[in-house]
Amino acid sequence: MRIDIIEHEPPYRVGVIIGSLSRDSINRRLATALERLAPPELEFFEISYADLPLYNRDLDADYPPAALAFKADVRSADALLFVTPEYNRSIPGALKNAIDWGSRPWGESAWADKPTAVIGASPGKIGTAVGQQSLRSTLSFLNTRQMTSPEAYVQFTPDLVDAHGDVTDAETAEFLRRFMAAFLAYTARVLTVIPRS
Ligand code: FNR
Repeated sequence: MRIDIIEHEPPYRVGVIIGSLSRDSINRRLATALERLAPPELEFFEISYADLPLYNRDLDADYPPAALAFKADVRSADALLFVTPEYNRSIPGALKNAIDWGSRPWGESAWADKPTAVIGASPGKIGTAVGQQSLRSTLSFLNTRQMTSPEAYVQFTPDLVDAHGDVTDAETAEFLRRFMAAFLAYTARVLTVIPRS
């Protein structure tokens, strides 16, 4: 089998998908902190999905504008960063709904071959570990290229991220900085072997 090696130069545009619709989401605060800790070769834009209706395959032949816009945003990203809460040991339904919209109609998924990373925050000790496994399973089925290591399960305390979006605990900040550096390296690797069309 022949593999084309074509380098795709940084900066890379990372679409950030926040799994919470809450105004004062701790995962949104984590996403802000991650952007500030990331290497300069990564640029970020949020992919929002709050306006999506519930997915219904009866609409596959006539996708609603909000779903077309969502898919276009996903397609335009060089890589995707999921920052999500855990709901009842899985991912929030609104996030799963958005992922479903992005995956259809059959054969026209926006997800395939995207470099992806998953991270999440919860007040609880396991810091979204179970929810992330659920998301990883879906992202695997959708043929995304997942960064499988490092993993990051963040137990969010009220003062972990300050009003500027900076992480107040030095050890956690360093861990998250390394997570984002690893995501840059992983994205570069994926895009070298699987260039964006
Ligand atoms: C939760 N929460 C939660 N936490 C957790 O660690 N494991 C879980 O399974 C759940 N389940 C769950 C279900 C529902 C419906 C809600 C609303 C909440 C608590 C959750 O971690 C907490 O509300 C976070 O603040 C949610 O993240 P955002 O929305 O602040 O980003």
